[in-house]
Amino acid sequence: MYQERYQVRLLPRDVTFTTDGEQTVLEAALNAGIAFPNRCQVGACAMCLCRKLSGTIRYDLEPMLTEKEQEEGWIFACQAVAESDLVLALA
Ligand code: FES
Repeated sequence: MYQERYQVRLLPRDVTFTTDGEQTVLEAALNAGIAFPNRCQVGACAMCLCRKLSGTIRYDLEPMLTEKEQEEGWIFACQAVAESDLVLALA
């Protein structure tokens, strides 16, 4: 199966890792050995909350974020799947 590869740049540490159109951003970060804050990995604890500065993501399961939070770019890394290169900032 053809898989997309996307670059994810994570601020403020400014580390970069790759992901695909299947795994979550959190899984991709952990697979790359990056210490990305997380606990539940099911969209409940908000430990993985980070801010998307650019790029497109999709959710299989919509996280509990208000419209305003989504507009401000907050995403749940454990639920988000990249659909383009991303720039993210940890809260
Ligand atoms: S790790 Fe708990 S919400 Fe993402």
